[in-house]
Formats: sequence, structure tokens, C-alpha cells
Amino acid sequence: VPSALPDGEPVPADGALPAGALDRLGAAPFGVYLHVPFCAVRCGYCDFNTYTALELGRPGVGATSQAAYAATAAGELRLARAVLGDGVPPASTVFVGGGTPTLLPTADLALLLQSVRSHLGLTDDAEVTTEANPDSVTASSLQALRDTGFTRVSFGMQSAVPHVLRTLDRTHDPERVPQAVAWAKAAGLEVSLDLIYGTPGESMQDWLTSLSAALECAPDHVSAYALVVEEGTAWPGRCAADGCLRPMTTTSPTSTSSPTKCSPAPGSGGTR
Ligand SMILES: C[S@@+](CC[C@H](N)C(=O)[O-])C[C@H]1O[C@@H](n2cnc3c(N)ncnc32)[C@H](O)[C@@H]1O
Ligand code: SF4
Repeated sequence: VPSALPDGEPVPADGALPAGALDRLGAAPFGVYLHVPFCAVRCGYCDFNTYTALELGRPGVGATSQAAYAATAAGELRLARAVLGDGVPPASTVFVGGGTPTLLPTADLALLLQSVRSHLGLTDDAEVTTEANPDSVTASSLQALRDTGFTRVSFGMQSAVPHVLRTLDRTHDPERVPQAVAWAKAAGLEVSLDLIYGTPGESMQDWLTSLSAALECAPDHVSAYALVVEEGTAWPGRCAADGCLRPMTTTSPTSTSSPTKCSPAPGSGGTR
């Protein structure tokens, strides 16, 4: 994936880790995170490492191919095993995050999981999760994920209110979430839902509507994130132009977010 190398000691060509990094291998449960850096659309607030098809087509970025990604990542897992050595315990959790992993064909996600299994090992009761956008799955794709060994799906619901979803640049409508959750449960997957609170224009009633809609889906887990205006995204500029950044109040959905972060105040109008 194209990016500037961070400052500091160069990574050894053979991927070797410093001895100290291997000291505690096996002393705690072992988990694997696999990143899939592709999205259909980039949401304006998001600073995760992800690329749209348009960005991948740009000169200098085109070296990254979505089609070749799973095989390349499988090669990295082979290298990880060589670097970690024989002392590596089987993974008890695997988390495939993004980006939008479910933009890849299920066969590619199956290859990633099979590579974890064969190079690192998986415990019998391993929790194997993929992130998914609600509109990037179907009943049959979720069933195929379950059949291939995934046990859990984490959907980016964000909100159940149309104007909030629009402000967040989301491509799904509110009805899609309960539908996707029902498909996932029918397939035998556990379900987690991500929500965002504190979006500009979101009222307390909007937030309660979203929270109720999430709970009505009876998920196994809900993660609620305060919207963070990240440097390098479109939002600092939008918020400056709209004047939507205000001190947080005790009655707003942002009232529990970190005061060290710059959060947009609800009720301050949309940003688009
Ligand atoms: C990396 S995203 C992947 C999920 C999936 N691509 C989706 O958006 O549906 C994981 C979660 O991080 C949260 N997130 C991303 N950027 C955020 C931000 N700037 N502030 C708060 N939450 C954020 C969203 O709730 C999102 O569902
Ligand atoms: S929030 Fe999810 S869909 Fe939106 S850009 Fe980030 S990773 Fe992609």
C-alpha cells in the first residue's frame, strides 16, 4: 500500500523483530489483525488507511491492486510465521478490519483466514470477526463467510437517522441495518454494531433514535464512538467553514467524549 515510511530505524529486509519483542510470546492470548484498505466511498470523517477505486487508479497509487491483495497479505502471514518462530501460539482471535473487508470476494477473505490457520494456527474456539458496511453484504455472502470459518461480523451502522447518515457520507439507508443483522444471525454469526454520536446536526432525540434502533436489532455488542474531527480529513475544513465546532454541553450526545479532542457540536447544522 503506498505511503511514506515513518521516521526511525529501517525495518530489516527479513522482517526480523528485536529480541525483546519476542520475550512474552505465548505468555498471553495471541490475536491477529488483518487490514483490508479498500472502500467504495471515503466517508469525510474517516482517517483510516483506505483507498477507493478512484484513488487506486491514480498514477503512483495504482501499484496497489485490490485483486492481488489477499495473495499479498497471505505472503505477509507466511513471513510473520518465519519471524515469530515455532513458539507462536495459535490465534484465539482474528479481526479483519478496514476499510471495508467485505468489498473483497468471500474467496479472498477465506484465503486470508486459511493463511492464518496454516501459518500461525487457530484455536478451536477462535473468534473470527470481519468488519462490514451494511450495504456491502447479502444473505448469501454472510452465509459464505460463516461457512468459511468467520464467527462474527461488526457492522458500521453509525446512525439510524437519514440526515445524520447523509452528513457522515454513508451509503446505506437506516432500513439496511436490521436487514443485514437478520441475515447475519440467520447465518449463525455474532453481530456487533458501531455507532457514532456527536455528528453536526444530530439532536439528542436523533441519538436516542439511533440507540433504540441499534438495541432493537438485539446485537451481541454495541460500540459507540464520539465523532472525532481528524486532521487530514475533509472535516476540519468543513467545520471551520460552517462554524459547527462549539464547546460541548452536558446535554449533548458529545458530553461523554474526550475534552482533548475537537468534536463538532450537535444541532450546529449539516456540513454538506
Ligand atoms: C474503520 S471503520 C470500519 C467499518 C466499516 N468500514 C464501516 O464504516 O461501516 C470502524 C469504525 O470506526 C468508527 N470511526 C471511524 N472514523 C471515526 C471518527 N472520525 N470518529 C468516530 N468514529 C469513527 C466508525 O464507527 C466505524 O464504523
Ligand atoms: S468509515 Fe468505514 S466505509 Fe467509511 S471510509 Fe472509513 S473505513 Fe471506509
